[in-house]
Amino acid sequence: TAAQKGGFPHFMLKEIYEQPESLRNTITPRIVNSLPDFTEDGIDDEVFKNCENITVIACGTAMHAGIVGKAMIESELRIPVNVEIASEFRYKEPLINEKTLVIVTSQSGETIDTLEAMRLAKRCGSKVISIVNVKGSTIARESDYVLYTHAGPEIAVASTKAYSVQMAAMYLIGCRLGLVKGIYSEEQAKEFISKLLGTIPVIEETLLQADEVKTVANYIKMAPDAFFIGRGMDYTLSLEGALKLKEISYVHAEAYAAGELKHGTIALITENVPVIALATQPAVYEKMVSNIREVKARGAYVILISMGDEVTDTQICDKHIRIPKQDSLFTVFAAAVILQLIAYYTSDAKGLDVDKPRNLAKSVTVE
Ligand code: AGP
Repeated sequence: TAAQKGGFPHFMLKEIYEQPESLRNTITPRIVNSLPDFTEDGIDDEVFKNCENITVIACGTAMHAGIVGKAMIESELRIPVNVEIASEFRYKEPLINEKTLVIVTSQSGETIDTLEAMRLAKRCGSKVISIVNVKGSTIARESDYVLYTHAGPEIAVASTKAYSVQMAAMYLIGCRLGLVKGIYSEEQAKEFISKLLGTIPVIEETLLQADEVKTVANYIKMAPDAFFIGRGMDYTLSLEGALKLKEISYVHAEAYAAGELKHGTIALITENVPVIALATQPAVYEKMVSNIREVKARGAYVILISMGDEVTDTQICDKHIRIPKQDSLFTVFAAAVILQLIAYYTSDAKGLDVDKPRNLAKSVTVE
């Protein structure tokens, strides 16, 4: 009903706007004296001390949150992270053992492939922390430890706020792990936490650009295909951007590591193909700009998402959306909001059933 949607036309839009609150509710209870602390969650530091590597198991958007977590943990902590699609992991002989920390991520806590993959991981002797949104769900009950995300109920089939808080949970785990292993000093961990909290006002500011994003959707809605490109953290996020667009707007979308384009996909870039280029990572910004020039030269309609006020040749893009300046490790939170809005407005502009896309269920309990 309209009342349940809190004045928003769809649950998805309401849930996109709830992200600052969802993040606050998920992060702040785990901060004690400005440091990450899982005492209330009952997560024993032993699991972090013993961990030599990490395997994240999940499906769909939850798996994409794991890919972001991998990029963050590997670059910050130098601990190897493997991300496994649950429906693949379950049918192979897993390369995990008691030294592996398994992180299982699920909004519903009921996805059958994820649940069965988790049971297998436990049989292999790994300790399992689940990141789950629905209280008391099967995955939450059966995991060794649970870090509940507090996004509140997510009604739209397309996951938005649950994804943000899953990423936040990965960041909290990464920070605690770094601290326990002595990779981070207390000072460094405090700085990390303050930047993580800093993403909340940044998202609030980002949401003010919704109308800008809407104009982009009016272009994308006419396209049969769209491409999301990025490098590093931006690439991990583009996977989710493409999934979101596909599932609710039915525009075929692919995510590509920008440097991979020239190995095949660039053949598909022709006149007016929308390319959503994420360029929030200063270390690879120039490389991104040259990739963007390559697609632009082939006639692509380029939507550039970049950070802060860096001066860019305006010729390289057709539409420029900026997110506020911040540490490049944390840009995924604000950029995710832009990608969610692109998918939302495209679906809405096509007159589709945004909250209930065809063929999809909120919780997938079939194998
Ligand atoms: C997200 O928009 C999807 N509808 C889907 O990929 C979802 O994330 C996936 O089915 C996993 O669900 P879960 O988090 O409840 O396990």
